[in-house]
Amino acid sequence: NGLSLSFSTSTGIPSSPLLYGFMIEDIDHSLDGGLHSQLLQNNGFQGDNPGLTAYAPVGNAVLSEDPSNPVSSAITRSLKITVPENTYGDVGFSNEGYWGIVVTENTYNSSFWLKGSYSGDATVKLVGKTSSIEYASETIHVDSSSNSFSYFEVTLSTRTAPDGENLWVLVFDAEKVTGGSLNVGLIQLFAPTYNSSLFFRPNGLKPELAKPLEDVKASFLRFPGGNNLEGATEADRWKWNETIGPLENRPGRQGDWGYPNTDALGLMEYLLWCEDMELAPVLVIWNGFSLSAGGATPFTGSALQPYVDDVLDELEFILGDTSTEYGALRARYGHPDPFPVQHVEIGNEDSHNPKGCETYPERFMAFYNAIHNVYPDLILITSSSDPQCLPKELPAGVWKDFHIYTDPDSLVQDFNYFDNLDRSFPYVVLEYAVSQTSPPSNNNAIWPYMQGSVAEAVYMIGMERNSDLVKMAAYAPLLAHLNYSMYTPNAISFEYSEPKVVLSTTYYTQKMFSANRGDTILNFTSNEEFGPLYWVVSKHSPTSTYFLKLANYGADTVGVYLTIPGTSEGTLTVLSGPADEFNSDSNPNNIVPKLTDIKGSEGTFEVNLPPWSVAVLAMK
Ligand code: AHR
Repeated sequence: NGLSLSFSTSTGIPSSPLLYGFMIEDIDHSLDGGLHSQLLQNNGFQGDNPGLTAYAPVGNAVLSEDPSNPVSSAITRSLKITVPENTYGDVGFSNEGYWGIVVTENTYNSSFWLKGSYSGDATVKLVGKTSSIEYASETIHVDSSSNSFSYFEVTLSTRTAPDGENLWVLVFDAEKVTGGSLNVGLIQLFAPTYNSSLFFRPNGLKPELAKPLEDVKASFLRFPGGNNLEGATEADRWKWNETIGPLENRPGRQGDWGYPNTDALGLMEYLLWCEDMELAPVLVIWNGFSLSAGGATPFTGSALQPYVDDVLDELEFILGDTSTEYGALRARYGHPDPFPVQHVEIGNEDSHNPKGCETYPERFMAFYNAIHNVYPDLILITSSSDPQCLPKELPAGVWKDFHIYTDPDSLVQDFNYFDNLDRSFPYVVLEYAVSQTSPPSNNNAIWPYMQGSVAEAVYMIGMERNSDLVKMAAYAPLLAHLNYSMYTPNAISFEYSEPKVVLSTTYYTQKMFSANRGDTILNFTSNEEFGPLYWVVSKHSPTSTYFLKLANYGADTVGVYLTIPGTSEGTLTVLSGPADEFNSDSNPNNIVPKLTDIKGSEGTFEVNLPPWSVAVLAMK
């Protein structure tokens, strides 16, 4: 009883080397307050209504958001600290970070801009919010004037705090400013960043979130959105040239997911992230369509031309040599070599809106023609695969993006979606997930759960079997701060007050499938049809390793007998658990993959696959 599978070791189809990757945008504080390493929130008073979010007065200070004292032309507001008459001792303010600041023993870098007549001590501290215990404190002498802002840096030797309930505090000597005021702007705090021991990455990624991403061994990164590229209006769209250079040059914007974006993780930081994790960048460009009232007025005709020109400038910044205007700018910002962008997607989900769909053929072709003319080797990707929204004659070489968010059973039913599609235009699936339309009652729609993750594995097997056609696939969304999860579920969640990174069953499924990939999908014979068990085998030719991926979308254990001539041993990784169980902040390791060694007999392996499981067998 069970499934018997025999695989040919030599016949099959080529698999896309880019198949598994990441989609990222600033959603659920995935970047600001998440993967990006800035620890202080609202540091530049960006976005529509920043208010005093995250700030509190220290001593007798009265705080206000001050638009009349901009730090720069981009950072148009600062914090005004008014000090009443007869104030003595320390006066200043605190910032609570993104719902907590994790402090561990290390060296942290901090900085601030100061304006106002003052000559005296300034002390930067990290202190327990309720305990007031100091985990770092450094005093410097500052001289500032009321004419302009001056910049100050502080290095903090930190000791480990028991939790993340900590504040960053900046205080001055009240006696020297009593009855007056000071303005402080663009405060910053960084712990050592991901890869900072190897490269110079002062404005880089948080190691505790970057490491699990690195472990996935993904192949590409799609950025910067998603909806968050598009803007509620044209004015709010993600603008590449406002996300580069010194942070005081980056105005930020009101993001599409309800909070201000600092854009401190900007175009170059995305590209450096790709460089650090060997990911192929997939750049999504704004194509004349924003989200408010369904993109009420998509830009078309001559109104589109400035945006086409802007994208050519963006591509020159990425790809141009240093003799070009924007290539030279990139070099000035520390990267003389062009970045290896080969894939550009023209917009995001234009088919989701009638006006977007209707005008997409024209808008796509305007960008296609302009880009293809200058960069004929770039692969250009449509933002949808709906034929109604695509040009009638799609130019050869174009790839089509297809997104799917649905319930587990529907995703499993789409297992064979790609089997019989026309193969003249490759597909990419740059967003997919089980979304919680009917979540288990105890899940509260926040966490990926085992049944959903198995459904995703079934769908991934469907894509991998067709990876001559499906060139890339990315689960979305990737990361979420648990204090701000307006879109759920997400592959990885985190919080700081009780510091935690929760790797979901979906994260583990992604990692297992991405980290075990061959270059050829092998043909097979079997005694059973697909369902409830699904499988795909690939061969990694350089190491003669065979990977069998399995998904058991059912409540029974299934025996699998597998024959691959010439193999004798391997490892088996299994992720399984009850259909409605999940990893959460209260039980982050509820379901984790289990690895065992297995031996085959004359090329035959026997595996018992538990209910609701995802498994990878790696054989040599
Ligand atoms: O992944 C969340 C959102 O879903 C993306 O921003 C958007 O492209 C899609 O509709």
